Amino acid sequence: MDWGMANRMAEIISPATGRCLMLAVDHGYFQGPTTGLEKPGETVKPLLPYADALMITRGALRNTIDPGLRAPVVLRVSGGTSILQDDLSSEDITVSAEDAIRLNASCLAISIFVGSANEKTTLVNLSKLCDKGQRYGIPVLAVTAVGKQMTRDARYLGLACRIAAELGAQIVKTYYCEGFEKIVNGCPVPVIIAGGKKIEERDALRLAYQAISAGASGVDMGRNIFQSKWPVAMIQAVRSIVHENKTDAEAWDMFESLRG
Ligand code: 5RP
Repeated sequence: MDWGMANRMAEIISPATGRCLMLAVDHGYFQGPTTGLEKPGETVKPLLPYADALMITRGALRNTIDPGLRAPVVLRVSGGTSILQDDLSSEDITVSAEDAIRLNASCLAISIFVGSANEKTTLVNLSKLCDKGQRYGIPVLAVTAVGKQMTRDARYLGLACRIAAELGAQIVKTYYCEGFEKIVNGCPVPVIIAGGKKIEERDALRLAYQAISAGASGVDMGRNIFQSKWPVAMIQAVRSIVHENKTDAEAWDMFESLRG
């Protein structure tokens, strides 16, 4: 791996633990004003000291985030549909490599929709983005988006993750499911999980622990952190699972004492 690419990967995935706690706040690119992200800059400010990286769109980054932030940026560079559509799979690349570099992005994030009507387009887009990433030494994070009609099982997610890695993604983000070990074993690049819809804090910590125990290289968690009533306590508890090998029970104790 070229030095710039390796250096950016080390910004995202800690060389000390081989893991990553990414804070996802890119939801607005297809959901619009998501609860908790009305003012992303204010939401992320107290959370950034505990995040290894911030996943965000260029519009939210430019308009709401203090450029003095210390967290590497994972820039969402795909989009083109909204929640008003039944099928969200019709995405394209929405940011040029030059703009990503101007924004000092450490990683480029794109969704792929394996099994959807736009499977081919999104996979070719991923391949093109990986070419751009190779040209400039910027890693690509492929997000295995799941359509309403698709089952979130290890067979399907494993297929999508492996294809993403084969096409050149340096990191893959998917969902936790039963048999997650199979997904990790079948994927030659680090696999991280999305948090998904807001659930109880205790359950979200269990989800993070199960994923890490099954071989995930980290979490890219959004709503289960920033929609918690105690987001700063929550991110620290998740961090203890990711980087300190705490169990979900230990992280829960930490959460309870931090939220006071
Ligand atoms: C949307 C995304 C989000 O970043 C991802 O879903 C993580 O956020 P959450 O933990 O809220 O699910 O990639 O496509």
